Formats: sequence, C-alpha cells, structure tokens
Amino acid sequence: MAEAHSSDNSVNLIAILPTGEIIGIAEMHGGKLKATRHVGTIGINVSSEWRNSGVGSDLLRSIIEWAKLCDIIKRIELEVMTDNQPALHIYEKFGFKTEGCKHGALYKEGRLIDTYLMGLTY
Ligand SMILES: CC(C)(COP(=O)(O)OP(=O)(O)OC[C@H]1O[C@@H](n2cnc3c(N)ncnc32)[C@H](O)[C@@H]1OP(=O)(O)O)[C@@H](O)C(=O)NCCC(=O)NCCS
Repeated sequence: MAEAHSSDNSVNLIAILPTGEIIGIAEMHGGKLKATRHVGTIGINVSSEWRNSGVGSDLLRSIIEWAKLCDIIKRIELEVMTDNQPALHIYEKFGFKTEGCKHGALYKEGRLIDTYLMGLTY
C-alpha cells in the first residue's frame, strides 16, 4: 500500500505490486465547507483479476485508519449500487451502516439503478 497524495482531510491510496503494477485505488475527499470538513466521501476500485484477494479490505482499512489519525474526519460516507454485493459486504464488515436508499439514483444502459447511502461515524 502506498499513499499517493494527501491534504489535511483528503487522501489517495494505491495498492501496488513490487513490479510497480497498480492493482487498486482508494480515495477519500473531505468536505470543503467548515460545516462539512469532517465528512469524507470514499471510493474504491480493485483490478478485476485481483478481486477477492483482500486488496479492497486492505484499502478500506487503510482509509479508515488514515481518517482516524488525521483528526479532522469524524464521518465517512459513500454511495453504492444496491446490487453490488462484494462492496456491500466489505463496507458492512468495517462497520458502515445503510442510512437510506436513493431510488433511481443512477441511469445506466437504459435502466434506473438504486443506490444505498452508507455511513460510518465515530
Ligand atoms: C468492491 C471491491 C472494491 C472489493 O474489493 P476486493 O479486493 O474484491 O475485496 P476483498 O477481497 O477484500 O473482499 C471481498 C469480500 O466480498 C465477499 N464477496 C465477494 N463476492 C460476494 C458476493 N457476491 N456476495 C457477498 N459477498 C461477496 C468476499 O467473500 C470477501 O469477503 P471477506 O472479506 O469476508 O472474505 C471490488 O469488488 C471492486 O473494485 N469492485 C468494482 C468497483 C466497485 O464496485 N467499487 C465500490 C463502489 S462503491
């Protein structure tokens, strides 16, 4: 795992092999307003051939650890498609709670897709 870039409430992480191949990325962007600086919104993506090998969990764990250490972020949130079982599984494993459902939040390949809003507040 390597930290590619960070500011006081945002960070980009990469999972990289000794060969230099990047196999996963995670990012957390903190809010820009005084009232939202404590909220980090995250996204994670792992190369398809490396999924189910623990990379996504490692990235999520590292993001949460970074957020707790940075002393600004008090809540992490994300939006995930309701049928994305692997993602729902790892978010729940790390304590995220489903806080709501956005019906038809995305439009993809001619159909409306629901998303869950998930949050982890500590
Ligand atoms: C979601 C994602 C980041 C997970 O990364 P990963 O490296 O595969 O994650 P891990 O290997 O650490 O863990 C996967 C877990 O999901 C579980 N899982 C896999 N398929 C599953 C399914 N269909 N239903 C339920 N759980 C499932 C695995 O058993 C594993 O569980 P464990 O940690 O208890 O062993 C990865 O699938 C991905 O990049 N998906 C595409 C992008 C994406 O959806 N990003 C999230 C958008 S919010």
